[in-house]
Amino acid sequence: MRLILVLAALPTLAWAAPAADLASLEREAAGLIPPFQQQLMQTVKQAVAEGGPVQAVQACQLLAPTIAVEHSQHPWKVGRTALRLRNPDNQPDAWERQVLEDFLQRQRAGEALTQMSASAVVDGEFRYMQAIATGEPCLACHGQAIKPEVAAQIKQGYPADQASGFRLGELRGAFTLRRTLAEATP
Ligand code: HEC
Repeated sequence: MRLILVLAALPTLAWAAPAADLASLEREAAGLIPPFQQQLMQTVKQAVAEGGPVQAVQACQLLAPTIAVEHSQHPWKVGRTALRLRNPDNQPDAWERQVLEDFLQRQRAGEALTQMSASAVVDGEFRYMQAIATGEPCLACHGQAIKPEVAAQIKQGYPADQASGFRLGELRGAFTLRRTLAEATP
């Protein structure tokens, strides 16, 4: 009896990454994105309404990293990354860079960015990314015709900014989520 119990527990102890478990991790990751995204959007919208786009840049600089931390509920870590960065702290690692390149390829091949995602197990961690398209409200701060006063504020906060000049519908970046797998099986 004891042996049977031990054997039954084995597959969960040694992480065999069965497809079903990965699918449920994907669902869990995807579910964490909308509240994170909504809070970012709401924060920017409110800042624009209250003080205009220059203040909104400051608000975004101040609050975006905190919002990511708030939404990183153990064991998940959520964030954003991109190939062309505004905040150097959002630098992609090797896997993220590869996925972002793949997203560009997939878009070129005709796939819509909406719901474009990728997942993998990398060094004992489950990783998940979801593409972020450049939408109309993003152009004020990431587009090709950024108002001079907004551009100046961006330059001041991010002297090495590369995240301007985007067109509507272009890949702006991605949500990126990770969690260790060791804790997936308590
Ligand atoms: C008011 C100006 C403003 C608007 C509007 C804005 N952003 Fe940003 N964005 C910023 C700033 C400032 C940062 C850097 C903050 C951070 O993530 O630490 C940033 C960072 C990002 C990042 C993280 C990667 C990086 O470059 O550091 C992504 C992805 C992003 N923005 C996408 C968008 C999208 C998509 C929209 C439209 C829905 C949008 N932004 C609208 C100012 C803005």
